[in-house]
Amino acid sequence: MNFEFQNPTRIVFGAGVLSRLGEVAREGGRRALLVIGGGSVKRNGAFDRAVASLKAAGVGVVAFEGVEPNPRLATVVRGAQLAKAEQCDLVIALGGGSVMDAAKVMAATVYYEGDPWEMMVHSPIGTRLPTRALPIITVPTLAATGSEMNMGAVITNEQRVEKSYVIADCLYPWVALVDPALTLTVPADQTAYGICDLMTHVTEGYFNGDDGTPLQDRFAEGVILTAMEWGPKAVANGQDLEARAQVQWASVVALNGWVQAGANAVGFPVHMIEHTISAIHDVAHGAGLAVVNPAWMRAAARIRPNRFAQFSRRIFGLEQPDVLACALEGVARFEGFLGGIGCPTRLSQLGLDGTLIERYARETLQAIHDESGCLPGRPAMREAEVIDLLRTAL
Ligand code: NZQ
Ligand code: ZN
Repeated sequence: MNFEFQNPTRIVFGAGVLSRLGEVAREGGRRALLVIGGGSVKRNGAFDRAVASLKAAGVGVVAFEGVEPNPRLATVVRGAQLAKAEQCDLVIALGGGSVMDAAKVMAATVYYEGDPWEMMVHSPIGTRLPTRALPIITVPTLAATGSEMNMGAVITNEQRVEKSYVIADCLYPWVALVDPALTLTVPADQTAYGICDLMTHVTEGYFNGDDGTPLQDRFAEGVILTAMEWGPKAVANGQDLEARAQVQWASVVALNGWVQAGANAVGFPVHMIEHTISAIHDVAHGAGLAVVNPAWMRAAARIRPNRFAQFSRRIFGLEQPDVLACALEGVARFEGFLGGIGCPTRLSQLGLDGTLIERYARETLQAIHDESGCLPGRPAMREAEVIDLLRTAL
């Protein structure tokens, strides 16, 4: 194992920490762009409490409302323009992954010369990473992406019908204020999608990473087992604060870099395929993953059955002597778990009939491929293999 790891984000975690927003923010700026989504934080009172805390601490507030799920580039540009016009010196994201990602890219766009799409991995003229951003405070209201404590952001270019991402040091939030009480109002379906998302963040590393990383395997298994223990409780009773807290901490750990450190995953193939599907159909990210991940696992398990049999043994206690049978049974149980908490696991449950499967595969590979034109992962997959695996998800 060889790796380097640093995550500079300070995390403040616990029910009720929203009341500390003003006290924390005033150390970083005097005038904040407060970025929110489509209104859930207004309906549940979090927005008013955030504003009151900021004002009491003497921090000015400029609200930017209306970040949509799968946030659009035009929304990011508008937010950055507002931050500049209002001379904000701090960006606060109060919302789900979409709000946090949009706010992060707004914070970088304030200093960026030119089209912010050029920050993205899929920029047609080559990626030009941002090097500077306004300080960012993330206040997640949904447990899913881990965006609150990582340096990634995912944006949709509505004109190009592409979803892409940027990973840059300057996008690490300065502070993540993680208050599980803010997730009590998340509806059961979005709660389930978030659980699927966080689990997929660790399965991507687990199945596509280096061999010989026993501690990282255990971290990943710990995240999965925690999500499987507490996730169904949060779905069954949204008001269960303990369950909400455990799920939220799992979602932070799943993608703040710690579990992935040293695993050196060669790709995030399930995410790459899902991003193509949600760019075209605007489906919820976690719902799309619940369809693609079991299908990808079914295909990959045939190539690397020992790895998947380890997963089956450690997660589900399976002990079939036939390694491939054991591997595939674990994948079936995993799919069953996702379906059991209310995730779609078939394209038809997303309202898709499968006629665009070839397009999903083609556009995924156009967006990302290795030197031999394959989708990076273990195994690397050709376009025809991606098509085949998606057919198993019809
Ligand atoms: O917009 P509002 O009204 O706030 O409603 C949202 C939205 O409709 C609602 N919601 C959020 N918090 C709520 C709530 N409803 C009631 N009570 C609350 N407390 O939930 C809906 C979905 O929100 P969204 O932010 O879109 O969900 P999520 O957190 O799953 O974020 C998905 C986005 O993150 C990207 C995805 O691709 C997608 O664009 N990702 C970002 C990553 C990252 N930055 O590291 C990694 C992920 O793999 C992912 O790709
Ligand atoms: Zn994800």
